[in-house]
Amino acid sequence: MTGFINQMEPSFDEKEREALNAYMESGGWVTEFKKTREFEREIARYTGAKYCSVVSNGTVSLAVALMACGIGAGDEVLVPDYTMAATPDAVALTGAEPVFVDIERETLCMDYQEMLRAVTERTKAVMLVSINGRYPIQMERIAAFCREQGILLIEDAAQSLGSFYKGKHIGRYGEIGSFSFSAPKIITTGQGGALITDNEALFERIKLIRDFGRESGGSDHYLIKGWNFKFTDLQAVIGLEQMKKLPQRVKRKKELGRIYERELRGIPQIETIQTDLANTPPWFFDILCEQRDELMAYLKERGIGSRPFYPALHREPAFCREGDFPNAEYAAAHGLWLPSAVSLSDTTVAYICGVIKEFYR
Ligand SMILES: Cc1ncc(COP(=O)(O)O)c(C=O)c1O
Repeated sequence: MTGFINQMEPSFDEKEREALNAYMESGGWVTEFKKTREFEREIARYTGAKYCSVVSNGTVSLAVALMACGIGAGDEVLVPDYTMAATPDAVALTGAEPVFVDIERETLCMDYQEMLRAVTERTKAVMLVSINGRYPIQMERIAAFCREQGILLIEDAAQSLGSFYKGKHIGRYGEIGSFSFSAPKIITTGQGGALITDNEALFERIKLIRDFGRESGGSDHYLIKGWNFKFTDLQAVIGLEQMKKLPQRVKRKKELGRIYERELRGIPQIETIQTDLANTPPWFFDILCEQRDELMAYLKERGIGSRPFYPALHREPAFCREGDFPNAEYAAAHGLWLPSAVSLSDTTVAYICGVIKEFYR
């Protein structure tokens, strides 16, 4: 193999370059306008949601989702202990308290029984993170419990664009679903986030919050508290081109997932995470393995990038919470993301798996 194989990289080609040139030649103001609205319509169409609103990133979109639902100081929001820090960070941004919940070993998503244990009278929302495009096994029980108890279900679907569950796009089972378009995602606009919902009143609040709470652009009449969380048309121009490529990327991610699964199955030191590849394009190819750090070093020496899983967040200095989270700790200590770019060839994946087999031999 020639050249280092990055664990992840975005993909662009002449389509984005040409679209950007055409946009600049058209005299666009760069700031959000018609292209942004078009990008929103495209995400709504793809996911099947009634409404979509894009914002500056996938952390802000989570915070806006909570704010639109009226969550703030004094409220608790349940979040998995294993997720990107952005999930609890977004909760903290609203003034509410993130409460950590352990994960299922099988899917690495929030555990239903653990969730029940964490609920208090202050619990206002559950942040359901579909890690790598997967739902927890008990997803329907989580959703039913939230419905019965009047607890809001907000979906952090940052890693799940292109993933469906029972024919419906992930992110549409909760009150609001949130996506991220940061550089490693299946489509990217450099930075960016989106909120989808079928609830018109929430959509109207989201639009206000992302634009200073003002009645309309150019008006200085402030209806509710809001900020500037807006997008740009420059990003939307790239996003629209990326969306055209999404179906092919979804197909390719599933193919790559199948190759990894086939090649790594049978290595006793490796546990692959069961993923429904018919409906889920894995964002990152994730494994639990023995001698994780040694394997990472071995791969690196052979030109292969990989990345350890997120830490168990309750232990991080930024959060520092007491409690037992054995599954999140196990995942944090054994989890590894293998090269996951959509541009990987079959040969490259076979090479990567060959090096892994060689390590354990
Ligand atoms: C689960 C999850 N939530 C939220 C985010 C935050 O998104 P952003 O980087 O766009 O702020 C990410 C980013 O990777 C993520 O993986």
